[in-house]
Amino acid sequence: TTPLIIDTDTAQDDCVALLVGLLDPEADLRAITMVAGNVGFEQQVRNALLTLNVAGRLGEVPVHLGCRRPLVREWVSAENVHGDGSGGLDMDREGLAVESEHAVDALVRMAAENPGELSIVAIGPLTNIAMALAKDPAFVDNVKALYVMGGSNNGRGNITAAAEFNFYVDPEAAKSVFAAGFDVTVVPWDPLTLRQAVFGQERLDRIAALGTPLSSFFTRVCSATLEFDRKVGIDGTTHPDSLTAAALIRPELVRRATPYHVDVETAGELTRGYSAMSWGVHGLEANARVVEEIDSEGFFEYLVSLLSLRTVP
Ligand code: BDR
Ligand code: CA
Repeated sequence: TTPLIIDTDTAQDDCVALLVGLLDPEADLRAITMVAGNVGFEQQVRNALLTLNVAGRLGEVPVHLGCRRPLVREWVSAENVHGDGSGGLDMDREGLAVESEHAVDALVRMAAENPGELSIVAIGPLTNIAMALAKDPAFVDNVKALYVMGGSNNGRGNITAAAEFNFYVDPEAAKSVFAAGFDVTVVPWDPLTLRQAVFGQERLDRIAALGTPLSSFFTRVCSATLEFDRKVGIDGTTHPDSLTAAALIRPELVRRATPYHVDVETAGELTRGYSAMSWGVHGLEANARVVEEIDSEGFFEYLVSLLSLRTVP
């Protein structure tokens, strides 16, 4: 099995990524760490706990609260895309228990306790990861592998023409993470997610027809984004975060991951958060692998198999 931590701004596909970590028997999810991003912080925490609850794992996986704003900038949300990120679901207040240890401390401690063993799936702005780096110089070597959802591979942004949301929200954090020397794999927004990890109506109908509590949860948490996507001309739900988790746990779903030098724009007027992904011709040494091709059908079937489960492994 793969021991991992998921660092998340939980809304919509972050919930699906948590399901991957919680339901796949190959995944050993040791903690969930929360970072400011998609929607209000308390709402994100509620969304993560709701997901633990529907997966039947509430109380089994610790949830640590992390940075509530980016390193140097004001928080920017994506509530216009995600609504509350859970499709209006709620749960009893007594289920809402979280750890007292800060997410950054938990990341540093757990990596130090298991040097070279733990991987991190980072599917929100990279603030917590950058803070962990600043706190403990050994963090980078203690982490086995870092899987990042963010940026675009010389493609379009989704919050500005140039930038993808996670890197836009905290570009300084993203820049420091790529400079740090992690073993990094990146799942970009465009073209990868937009071409290979979109579920159109036929796939969504198949998931709905599974008729399990997990499949209804999926349909519900994806509802606001689906509506938004249709308005902007994306024909279905997008799954960058669950794909990032799957890329770590089920590497056979990744058909091609290519070395690139990745850096993030922090100074540009129109290009804040732009991910510059340079290939060999620019003479820069690679610092990440960027996923370029996945087994798209295999990824869909993988999520279907998890959402079909009636009892939790
Ligand atoms: C990223 O931003 C969020 O809206 C998604 O969860 C994903 O992590 C895509 O730009
Ligand atoms: Ca996310």
